[in-house]
Amino acid sequence: MRSLTRHGLLTAIAGGGAIGALVLGFALYGQRRAQAAASPVPAVATEEYGRRLITDTARLLGPDHEDPAMRYSGSRLACASCHLGNGADPGMLSLLESADLYPRYSGRDGGERDLFDRINGCMARSMNGRTMPRDSPELMAMVSYVESLGDRFKAMGTSVRKATDPAAFVRPERAVDFNAGERVYKGRCAICHGADGLGLPTSARPEDGYVFPPLWGPDSFNDGAGMARVLTAARFIKARMPLGEPTLTSDEAFDVAGYINARPRPHMENLEQDYPKRAEKPIDSPYGPYADPFPIEQHRFGPFKPIEDYYKAQKTASN
Ligand code: HEC
Ligand code: HEC
Repeated sequence: MRSLTRHGLLTAIAGGGAIGALVLGFALYGQRRAQAAASPVPAVATEEYGRRLITDTARLLGPDHEDPAMRYSGSRLACASCHLGNGADPGMLSLLESADLYPRYSGRDGGERDLFDRINGCMARSMNGRTMPRDSPELMAMVSYVESLGDRFKAMGTSVRKATDPAAFVRPERAVDFNAGERVYKGRCAICHGADGLGLPTSARPEDGYVFPPLWGPDSFNDGAGMARVLTAARFIKARMPLGEPTLTSDEAFDVAGYINARPRPHMENLEQDYPKRAEKPIDSPYGPYADPFPIEQHRFGPFKPIEDYYKAQKTASN
């Protein structure tokens, strides 16, 4: 029912521009107020608690929580700001198939990491927060929710499993064009995320989070987050944004991703310790040190082909 309503609203946006965005805003606002009014969630590690934590992260784990011990997130984003439909939507950044992928090797951490670690990675970076203890009801509940999504996925028919994402992002072989990015932002994004990129809060109470989350500024993801990588952001934007009407070309997605990632955001400490094997660092990692001679600007905004060719040549030489 909820998703049907939302679908209708998104169609309204596609057709109605500003009016549609307002309508969607009010509907999301209503949804979140209803959630806020619901009875308090018992902090036991159930799937349901996990789902609530992922939707209503700002209220349950955010910086305004009355209990300082519960202030894990450093922003008022929700996990669901990026993992759409609470991670239950197939396609880009879906969590439906995640449980089976872990434990696995993480180049960023230089070792094997499980689902607990992976969630904490998003907490520390995408949410600009601090890690949750492995035996906390909160982390255990999120893990059990992600595992339940896996069971749900296996029970789905193949037609439902299929993502409805548009054609995948194809990397342009040039540097980001910031002027073009600004035009895309103003024309296609500002209506929801705001001309200042700071989003639209749900209410005057910060703990209510956002109807439209910020894309930069102090309450956004930090510079160590996956979304701070221009190619990761462009893939997500190409697949999912503008919400309900993801019709950007790869060039537009690339330019607007660069435009967003050139704006200020919180800084994460000790990033130089990521990727202990430097050659494993993704080519679009926005921070050094690098195992190649290319300047940081090129890692942040391209062009990427020369960097990729450099690593290919290194490999061939060492074979
Ligand atoms: C700002 C966007 C953003 C927010 C907010 C966010 N994430 Fe993520 N998340 C990502 C990106 C990007 C990836 C990694 C994709 C990649 O590695 O290329 C990711 C990966 C994950 C994965 C691993 C998925 C897989 O299949 O490997 C899990 C699990 C996860 N996030 C859970 C969470 C949880 C729980 C929260 C809230 C505490 C959260 N995320 C908040 C962007 C976000
Ligand atoms: C119709 C309103 C709307 C438009 C237009 C829109 N977005 Fe979003 N965007 C959202 C919402 C809402 C979310 C959070 C997902 C949710 O709540 O379901 C989001 C999430 C995001 C996120 C991840 C969360 C974060 O805060 O970083 C990024 C990045 C993003 N949008 C980029 C863009 C870009 C770039 C454009 C323009 C090309 C755009 N959006 C246009 C509504 C919109």
